[in-house]
Amino acid sequence: MLEHGGRLRRAAAIYDIPLADWLDLSTGINPNGWPVPPLPAAVWQRLPEEDDGLTAVACAYYGAQGCLPMAGSQAAIQALPRLFAPCRVAVVQPGYAEHAEAWRAAGHTVVAVDARAPLQDASVSVLVLIHPNNPTGQVYTLADLRAWHAILAARGGWLVVDEAFMDATPAFSLAADTHLPGLIVLRSLGKFFGLAGARVGFVLAEAALLARLADLLGPWTLSGPARAVAQAALHDRDWQAMARTQLHAAGVRLATLLTAHGLPPTGGTALFQWVERARAEVLQRGLAEQGILTRVFAAPASVRFGLPANEGDWARLDDALVALAL
Ligand SMILES: Cc1ncc(COP(=O)(O)O)c(C=O)c1O
Repeated sequence: MLEHGGRLRRAAAIYDIPLADWLDLSTGINPNGWPVPPLPAAVWQRLPEEDDGLTAVACAYYGAQGCLPMAGSQAAIQALPRLFAPCRVAVVQPGYAEHAEAWRAAGHTVVAVDARAPLQDASVSVLVLIHPNNPTGQVYTLADLRAWHAILAARGGWLVVDEAFMDATPAFSLAADTHLPGLIVLRSLGKFFGLAGARVGFVLAEAALLARLADLLGPWTLSGPARAVAQAALHDRDWQAMARTQLHAAGVRLATLLTAHGLPPTGGTALFQWVERARAEVLQRGLAEQGILTRVFAAPASVRFGLPANEGDWARLDDALVALAL
C-alpha cells in the first residue's frame, strides 16, 4: 500500500490526540465541498442504470464527446494499464505515486521522466502526467501537451493526463481533444467538488477505448447514490463558479500565510501549496504535535498543505506556525 493523505485515524493514534481535535490539511480536497442534499430512496434501493443521464451531464461539464464514470479516478489508474500489451511507460516524477505502481503491477516497464522534457525516449509508448501536478503544482501549455500527444499517437502510443486537480482552471484541460486516438484524460469529483468519499471519477477518451474499459470493469462500477450526487454536482454551475472564485482566493491566502512564516511555496494549485524544505519531516511532526496533519514527502523533501475550511482553522494554522518559530 502506498502512502496517502487523509489518514487521520492513524495520526490520532500516533500522536495520542483525539480524532475530533485534528485539523486535516493532508489532502488537496476542497474542505467546503458541494453540499450533498438528502437523496431519494430509489437511488439506494434500485440497481443503478447507465442511461440515467450522468454521462451526458459529465460530458457537458468536461466539454468532452465521450466519458465513462468510474469509482474514483483511482479505479481508472488501476484498470488502464491492463488494457495495453506490456510496453515502455514514461511517468513524470515526482507525482501521485499510484500511476507508476499500477503500470508496473500490470507488467509494463516504467521509466521516471522529468516534467521539462518528458518525451526524450523514442521507445516510450505511453506518457503519463498529472496536470496540474500533485504535489509540485507543475503546469504545462496546451501546445506542449498537444505536441506530445501527436508524437505518441503517430507511433501508436498514448498520452495519459490525470486532471484530478484541473477543475479550478478548466481552460488548461485537454478534455475537448479526447475523441482523438491516443489520448486519455482522467477526472475526479474528489478534489474540487470535495466528494472524495463518494468515489467518483471519469475517463475521457475515444469510444473504442471506453468500450474496452467498460468491458473490463463490468456493470455497476458506481453506486446509485454516487451517480445521483455526481450528476447533481456536475449540473450545479452556480456552485462551480462560486467554488472556483473561492478556491483561487484561498490558494493565494495559503501561499501568503506560509510565506509570512518563512515557508514560501515551491509550487501549488488552488487546492494545495507545496513547500520544499530540508528536514521536511521535522516541520510535519511539529505541526502534527499540535494536531495539524500535513503530508510529508521524502523525495524531494517537502510538505504539502491543504486548505483550512474556515476562519477558526486559518487562525489555528497561523498560531501553530508561530509556535514553531521557524
Ligand atoms: C493526482 C491524483 N490523481 C488521482 C487521485 C485519485 O483520486 P480519486 O480516486 O478520489 O478520484 C488522486 C488522489 O489523491 C490524485 O492526487
